Amino acid sequence: MWQGEVGMRIILIGFGVVGKSVTAIIARRYSERVKDYGFNPKIVAIVDVDGAVINPRGLSAEKLETLRQKGFPISKDPEFGHPGMSALDVIESVEAEVVVEVTPVNIKNGEPAMSHITKAFKTGKHVVTTNKGPLALALPALMELAEYNNVYFRFSGTVGGGTPMLEFAKRCLAGDKILAIKGILNGTTNYILTEMAQKRVTFQEALSNAQKLGYAETDPTMDVEGFDTACKIVILANWVMNRKVTLRDVDRTGIRGVTLQELDEAAKRGNTIKLIGAIDGEGKPTVKPMEIPKTSPLCVSGVLNAVTFHTEFAGEQTLVGKGAGGVETASAVLRDLLEIRRRLASKMLS
Ligand SMILES: NC(=O)c1ccc[n+]([C@@H]2O[C@H](COP(=O)([O-])OP(=O)(O)OC[C@H]3O[C@@H](n4cnc5c(N)ncnc54)[C@H](OP(=O)(O)O)[C@@H]3O)[C@@H](O)[C@H]2O)c1
Repeated sequence: MWQGEVGMRIILIGFGVVGKSVTAIIARRYSERVKDYGFNPKIVAIVDVDGAVINPRGLSAEKLETLRQKGFPISKDPEFGHPGMSALDVIESVEAEVVVEVTPVNIKNGEPAMSHITKAFKTGKHVVTTNKGPLALALPALMELAEYNNVYFRFSGTVGGGTPMLEFAKRCLAGDKILAIKGILNGTTNYILTEMAQKRVTFQEALSNAQKLGYAETDPTMDVEGFDTACKIVILANWVMNRKVTLRDVDRTGIRGVTLQELDEAAKRGNTIKLIGAIDGEGKPTVKPMEIPKTSPLCVSGVLNAVTFHTEFAGEQTLVGKGAGGVETASAVLRDLLEIRRRLASKMLS
């Protein structure tokens, strides 16, 4: 390791769509990152529901993927597997700098991610997550706990997938004041409303199409009732506008009630209806279907996401991009790891 190179041992919790993409892009970008940024990441443990694989010298993602493709759980690896070992045990016992938490979202109590994240903080590990659940329920408390334990907590992939909405607001608009935020933050509902408006199909037909294409879950409640957008609004409010709000503070309405007649009437006025997550000038968080002009930069189609930041000096700034996807979201994880690496390196120099 040369001077200025920061070694980073990573525990990856969750080996699904995002988790596998994290291992893939770290492997793909490895040599460039080491060369360009002095960044030397090593995945020393991966955990899923069945158990863990652990190798303090670094795991080969290709080998794990081969095991998965053969139908074996990763923890059945003959050399490094630990069947039945839980994520909490791994966080407690494996030496690492960072925990990457990418387990499924749960907005009832945030578990299992809530326990994984707090355990990581308490054992002095930085955390990168794409899981909105714990953040929507307790972001102010989690930010305090991270600070108390002197670790970094980053979650770029929770809003906008790979589109850097949180960083854009925090870093590119630094020095300005963000007065309000408005966004289309959920691709599934945007696809449904776009289909309804453009093809004149009912909500139910558009939802079935979204399910067939894999854009909507079998149980679409999180998306169509606006919970997913509400989670993202909570994260934006806390991280970008310093508002200490949680999911229960969001005034939320989903899109089930939007009719073709309402879309037709909006169209006559040159508008359309979108599910808009917003934080107004008073800091009030809302999610509801709203009429917006078809000419608005916010008015994106299909599964695209868009967010507009209303700022004091720079005016309105809109960012558009894909709001989900394994590789896209994993690119946000890599961005967060690089940001933590940068902060650790500057601490080493000071
Ligand atoms: N996919 C996207 O495009 C996207 C975009 C933005 C954010 N996100 C968020 O990122 C997170 C991961 O999404 P995903 O699409 O990768 O989900 P996923 O494909 O369902 O993968 C979840 C992984 O977590 C594992 N897991 C579940 N419970 C666990 C536990 N108690 N301990 C250890 N591992 C556990 C699962 O193991 P098994 O496979 O063995 O069940 C699976 O490997 C979610 O919170 C999601 O909302 C996803």
